Amino acid sequence: MSGSGATSPDRVRALAGDAWLFRWQVEVEAEERFTRLSAALERLGAPAALVAMARRSAGDERRHAVHCARLAAAHGRPVPATPPPPAPPVAPSGLAEREAVTYELAAACCVTESVSVAVLTALLPEARDPGLRAVLQELAEDEVVHARLGWAHLASEHRRGATAFLGPWLPAMLAGSQDGDLFGPPPPGRDDAALLLAGVLPHARQRELFAEALREVVFPGLEQCGVDASAGRRWLDGQLARAS
Ligand SMILES: [Fe+2]
Ligand SMILES: [Fe+2]
Repeated sequence: MSGSGATSPDRVRALAGDAWLFRWQVEVEAEERFTRLSAALERLGAPAALVAMARRSAGDERRHAVHCARLAAAHGRPVPATPPPPAPPVAPSGLAEREAVTYELAAACCVTESVSVAVLTALLPEARDPGLRAVLQELAEDEVVHARLGWAHLASEHRRGATAFLGPWLPAMLAGSQDGDLFGPPPPGRDDAALLLAGVLPHARQRELFAEALREVVFPGLEQCGVDASAGRRWLDGQLARAS
C-alpha cells in the first residue's frame, strides 16, 4: 500500500485532484470565516491590529482558493461553478459571542493553521515543479501569519483571564480540525509517496505531522495562554492508539 509505484498514475492523479479540490473548499470557507471574524473582532473591541490581520487573512484565503482551484483542475478535478455554502459555525452553541470568537480563532488559527504550516513546510522540499513550489511557498508564508492571528488573540484574551474555558473543549475542537478520519485506515492509494510530487502528503505522514504539530506547537502555545491542554493531550494519545 505504501511506497511510490504501488498505485497507478491515474489513481495518484485522482487522489491529488481530490486533495486540491478539498483544499479549495477549505480556502473558500476560510475566506468567509475571516471576513466574519474580522467584523466580530471589531464589534467586540479587539485591538485594531488584530482586526486588520483578520481582514488581510480573508484576502489571502481568496488568493489561495484560486491557486487550489487551478491545481485541482490540473489534476482532473475542476471546482464547481458555485462556491460551497458557508461552513457551519465551529464553536459549540451556548457560548457567549466573545467566547465563540475565541473558540473559532483557536480552532481555525492556533490549531488548523499551525498544522497547515507544518504540512506545507514538509511538502516544500518534495515538490519538483516550480509552479507548485511557488504556490506551496506562498501558502506557507500566509498561513504563518494566520496562525499568529490566533495566538495574538489568545494572548490578548489570556490577559483578561478569558481563555481557561477552552480546556475541556479541546477534544471536540481537535476532532473537528482533522481532515476526514486521519486516525482511521487510509483510502486505497492514499499512502503512496508519489502524491508528494503533486503537493499532497501521504496519509500516514499527515497523521504524524498533525500529532507533531499538536505536541510541539499547539499544546505548549495553549498552555502559555492559560489553557489546560491535558484533555487535548489525552484525546491525541487515544487517537494514536486507535491508529496503531
Ligand atoms: Fe489558506
Ligand atoms: Fe489560512
